[in-house]
Amino acid sequence: MIRLSGVHKTYRTGQTSLEVLKGVDLEIGDGEFVSIIGRSGSGKTTLLNIIGGLDSDYTGKVEVEGRKLSEMSDRDLSRYRNRHIGFVFQSFHLLGHMTCLENVILPSLFNGGDGGLSEKQAQDRGLELLAQMDLADKAHARPIHLSGGQKQRIAIARALLHKPELLICDEPTGNLDRDSGDAILKLFSQLNERDGITLIIVTHDDIIAEAAARVVRIVEGNVVEDRRSEPNKNVDTSTSQREESA
Ligand SMILES: Nc1ncnc2c1ncn2[C@@H]1O[C@H](COP(=O)(O)OP(=O)(O)OP(=O)(O)O)[C@@H](O)[C@H]1O
Ligand SMILES: [Mg+2]
Repeated sequence: MIRLSGVHKTYRTGQTSLEVLKGVDLEIGDGEFVSIIGRSGSGKTTLLNIIGGLDSDYTGKVEVEGRKLSEMSDRDLSRYRNRHIGFVFQSFHLLGHMTCLENVILPSLFNGGDGGLSEKQAQDRGLELLAQMDLADKAHARPIHLSGGQKQRIAIARALLHKPELLICDEPTGNLDRDSGDAILKLFSQLNERDGITLIIVTHDDIIAEAAARVVRIVEGNVVEDRRSEPNKNVDTSTSQREESA
């Protein structure tokens, strides 16, 4: 369970300050599939960064499994990020000089020697994830030789290395065509339904938003809508239009 209460965030640059989150209250239960929508600049990425423990400069309370993030030590916080959360971004963030397998097992190098995966375990798990992503044959290829959809599946495999309970995704299909986006969505649904992974996905993609059981809309730093519905699993993708990212 993730619980945000009265979260405010202000960016300060030089003389100017910009209040981006204006008292966000939000509870996300284990195993939920939540999409977060809203216009460009409304504060979605800012919110994800706070939930993911990447940004500690806010006021208000963020609790995960009953523990306040602001009271965690640096070590606990990095453990939370590395072990319990997988991050997926619009632009994949793969390292070009490494193979796909090396990219997938990269998080295992940041364990700080406290009981994470051994090199062999990481390799095995990496290969298993690549197979799950239908990319076993790309293990030793470099990301540059892959399509966008394949790159995103490598990034998702990397995010899953430590079997996170929570996947945080910022516009994961923003750089993909419809077919690749649909494949990613199918994968997300599977991770949520079969493996019980909690999904928080910021998206401009209507089809992703419609697939989520819950849609949270942010307008200028406030949650203005929080809607639960039966996920729409039979969207006719041939006629649906994607909302353009502003
Ligand atoms: N590091 C920063 N310093 C100063 N201002 C920032 C910083 N990051 C974001 N902002 C500002 O905060 C506001 C919210 O940004 P945020 O990235 O959270 O929006 P967003 O909803 O994710 O938008 P998009 O859909 O374009 O990704 C924007 O006005 C942005 O310019
Ligand atoms: Mg953003």
